[in-house]
Amino acid sequence: MNPALTQFGAHMSKLTGVRAIMKDIIETLRAGAGQQFINLSAGNPLILPEVEQLWRDCTAQLLASPEYGEVVCRYGSSQGYAPLVEAVVEDFNRRFGLNLSERNILVTPGSQSLYFYAANAFGGYTTSGELKQIVLPLSPDYTGYGGVTLVPEALIAYKPTLDIDAAAHKFKYRPDFSKLSITEKTGCVIFSRPCNPTGNVLTDDEVKKIAALAAPYDVPVFIDSAYGPPFPALNFTQMTPIFGDNIIHCMSLSKAGLPGERIGIAIGDEQVIQVLESFQTNACLHASRYGQAIAARAITSGGLADISEQVIRSFYQNKFTVLESTLNEAMPKDLPWFLHRGEGAIFAWLWLPDLPTTDWEFYQELKRVGVIVVPGSTFFPGLEEEWKHKQECVRISLTGSDEEIVTGMQRLAKVVQQLYQVSAVSA
Ligand SMILES: Cc1ncc(COP(=O)(O)O)c(C=O)c1O
Repeated sequence: MNPALTQFGAHMSKLTGVRAIMKDIIETLRAGAGQQFINLSAGNPLILPEVEQLWRDCTAQLLASPEYGEVVCRYGSSQGYAPLVEAVVEDFNRRFGLNLSERNILVTPGSQSLYFYAANAFGGYTTSGELKQIVLPLSPDYTGYGGVTLVPEALIAYKPTLDIDAAAHKFKYRPDFSKLSITEKTGCVIFSRPCNPTGNVLTDDEVKKIAALAAPYDVPVFIDSAYGPPFPALNFTQMTPIFGDNIIHCMSLSKAGLPGERIGIAIGDEQVIQVLESFQTNACLHASRYGQAIAARAITSGGLADISEQVIRSFYQNKFTVLESTLNEAMPKDLPWFLHRGEGAIFAWLWLPDLPTTDWEFYQELKRVGVIVVPGSTFFPGLEEEWKHKQECVRISLTGSDEEIVTGMQRLAKVVQQLYQVSAVSA
């Protein structure tokens, strides 16, 4: 069958960004039967034994409780399972001195769906035909934002400025406030903090500045805290979650070991939450109640926050250190290469200025030596302008073993050296 597709149908049936590359990666792994690949492309967190045990224990408690039937055999409210909503209210009020009520909370089936609701409720065409933009203030950012809007022309990302420490081969992106435009044309603002793919953490001041630019226009700012504290606490630098009248703090339990259960949580203004909740009722009724019930237990006991700080954070921070020190040893000293400061998340982001080929070709070269990373150009959703930098970066996942990371980075260093040498000779 080949039914005609609507504009939305055509748009939504295409995979964008990293999802499109994943197909190539899966095919490579399948076709290379026998060849051992070091796969540093995954966004899937590793299964850490302590984390798995926490979820097992919460599940055992749920199974043994009279609550079980009510949880899995019944529909529930779109806003979320009441014990989870209460657990979040209590935890956040105590931890951050807030004054939240249950009306400030929405539980969604994963946080990706939350950005889909937000992007389409606040971005796109208004009833009077005006285009409201979805602003990504700091590009590169999460590739998934490329797929969330039904109106692709609504997505606008801003080029960053670069803080470069040439001697240390390090750099950091910063929002370019001289260019960032948030006006009556803006529908909402979204950014990840810590950032996938770069590991960047916007400073408290930068976040407050963005929120202040949006406030006069009643523009909600969605802070994607999929890697933030208190869970999964994948920040390697000190950071405080920022709350405010127009800030929607968005969380995900995926990197805290529960990606299969699809739990996202939005915390913010009651009216914004209500809009998102209705969107959710129309789209899918509600998130899995089993996932919500075990999450409620893990949050109320304090177990989730403890394991995040004591196990999850140090696990990935150590991986970043292994990667960084291997690159420092193996990369040619005389070539320009820059690793983004590893401030959080589960990735490293490498920039190779004047790379003599594209990021896509570089990715293919690495595959030839058995290493899989993700070409960086997939992480600039909404940034249409030409910028060579977009083809000069790769994302390296920290989800390999230490040995895989060391070997993978040694092979990468060799490929880099060869590429620049060949280009110098042919020049
Ligand atoms: C920054 C960021 N936001 C959102 C998501 C979506 O996560 P989920 O839908 O599993 O909550 C991811 C997933 O990798 C992510 O990296």
